[in-house]
Amino acid sequence: MFNPIHYSPSVETIGDDESQIVNDILAMMAASQRASMDRHRHAHRDAHSKSHAVLKARLTVRENLPAHLAQGIFSQPCSYEVMVRLSSAPGDIHSDKVPAPRGFAIKVIGVEGERLIPELDGRNQDLLMVNFPVIAFGTVAKYKKLLGLLEKNAQTPDFFQRIVAGTARASENFVEALGKTPGATLQGLARDNNNILGETYHTQAAIRYGAHVAKLSLQPKSDNVRSLTGELVEVDGHSTMRDVVREFFSSDGAEYDLRAQLCVDLDKMPVEDAAVLWEESLAPQESIATLTIDPQDSFSPARRVYGDDVLSFSPWNGIEAHRPLGSIMRVRKLAYERSTAFRHTGNAVERREPDSLDQVPD
Ligand code: HEM
Repeated sequence: MFNPIHYSPSVETIGDDESQIVNDILAMMAASQRASMDRHRHAHRDAHSKSHAVLKARLTVRENLPAHLAQGIFSQPCSYEVMVRLSSAPGDIHSDKVPAPRGFAIKVIGVEGERLIPELDGRNQDLLMVNFPVIAFGTVAKYKKLLGLLEKNAQTPDFFQRIVAGTARASENFVEALGKTPGATLQGLARDNNNILGETYHTQAAIRYGAHVAKLSLQPKSDNVRSLTGELVEVDGHSTMRDVVREFFSSDGAEYDLRAQLCVDLDKMPVEDAAVLWEESLAPQESIATLTIDPQDSFSPARRVYGDDVLSFSPWNGIEAHRPLGSIMRVRKLAYERSTAFRHTGNAVERREPDSLDQVPD
């Protein structure tokens, strides 16, 4: 029988050395962001710095959701205004010729509920996803090791960024590639130059889902984006992916299906190691809402500046009912705050959470 576990704070286990590891990670990331700022004379995100689109959308919660799915911001059938930012994972702006994991960040505007960080401006719920179901370095200890390797291997930064976001499958591949041929491994992962609009995106790590615990994912729903799944994009320029998406939304809209996979067994579906795939044989992906994007200019100059310099997304910008869970989520609380503060200060741009899509420039 399908029996999702009940959330309680005891689903998380905080390691004795965690605060030290978190401090080390923050220091390493701050150093790389400062170096990028010095190179560009403009502060970028410390990860996912290159955007491909900034979109206005809406999220419609399904009617008649069963009780286990009608939780948190999905408790009632309703329609929310939403902002979306599509990105590539590296913390620097590289040519699209280098395949990279893709990010799909959603900002759900105006949600009810107790805030995770009451001092933060706004009443929005951010959901951050990447086009792979797990993050290969799924604990803070492993993540710190990865950052150390990244520093030592700065000549192949993209490869390592892919591992950060989990598109390189296992750490065996990583170790093998480190000693041998990262180039060959990169070729083997050419799937990442697939059309960004046809991909399926995942929170990778767990969140509280009201009374339960879940991972969320977003899958193409309308035929026009479903038909792009697996379609290789011929990259002939530095920013081909932006052009492909802009061309698409100049005439077409799209729909995506937002789904929740509820945890039924903390041993087989752990929250403390986000590298472990939650098998669908244990719990299905269940549809909870539809994301609808109408035709629009997805990358006008005003949109780009707004999405890149004004907006911030963080899994901790949200409500208690969707508390991020596990050590990889806990480190993100300070990592995102530090990165966003650095770039807003560095670019002398005021940080503003939207409370309506009217504030988003066309
Ligand atoms: C659980 C897996 C993760 C997923 C799915 C994920 C996803 C994302 C996405 C989609 C963005 C772009 C947000 C935007 O468009 O503004 C982003 C940004 C970022 N990520 Fe992650 N990420 C993950 C893990 C991590 C970890 C472990 C760290 C660091 C410890 C990290 C650090 C950052 C930072 C610093 C930013 C930029 C924040 C800003 O300046 O606004 N991420 N992430």
